[in-house]
Amino acid sequence: MQARAFDLIGAHYDEVFPHKEGQRAAGDWLAARIEPGAHVLDVGCGTGRPTARQLTDAGLRVTGIDISERMLDLAREAVPEATFRRADVTGLDTSWGPYAGVVAFFSLLMLTRAQVATTLRLLHTLLDPGGHLALAMVEADLDDVEMSFLGTPVRLTGYPRADLRAVVEDAGFEVLEVNDHTYAPASVEADPETQLFVYARRGR
Ligand SMILES: C[S@@+](CC[C@H](N)C(=O)[O-])C[C@H]1O[C@@H](n2cnc3c(N)ncnc32)[C@H](O)[C@@H]1O
Repeated sequence: MQARAFDLIGAHYDEVFPHKEGQRAAGDWLAARIEPGAHVLDVGCGTGRPTARQLTDAGLRVTGIDISERMLDLAREAVPEATFRRADVTGLDTSWGPYAGVVAFFSLLMLTRAQVATTLRLLHTLLDPGGHLALAMVEADLDDVEMSFLGTPVRLTGYPRADLRAVVEDAGFEVLEVNDHTYAPASVEADPETQLFVYARRGR
């Protein structure tokens, strides 16, 4: 269901969610902490815009993964300098790393809470000591609930912000900041939402 949803949504996602100030700020935060040329992982890269584009333009080597072939095609077109591979984040192993940084913007919300916890632990192991994570989720008290997203059924998970901080800390990260953005989509097809951005670091 989850891969098919984004195969159907495709470029429509960027039309409905065009303003990405919080996400761009999170990308800037990560890029400012990483040496040019270092390798970063974009989990659930979607169309590659804005994040893979932004991180590539900042001089980083980007690998994007996604479960949707349609999103990967759009990302390859938008950011030909980056590498995009079809992969499910829950199935990654240590052969994928290490990375100086990881971003996961609105992709882990398509996992169950149990999967979010194990995936964050996995991402922690894929980071270099001192490496940085930028994570975005939507604030909601949900675990794997079927909802309609842009007319397509998907299963979604969210956390109240204190719980989100706790799950990131439990995975071994030092949480440096949690900030929120109220997001008004460009279309009535999607409801306004509170986006949570977690800035975190793997200890040395
Ligand atoms: C809401 S979109 C966000 C896309 C992009 N990160 C952004 O912020 O613009 C979520 C993306 O995560 C991908 N995704 C969902 N579950 C995934 C998984 N288990 N592994 C990798 N990608 C996944 C979806 O296919 C989709 O492209």
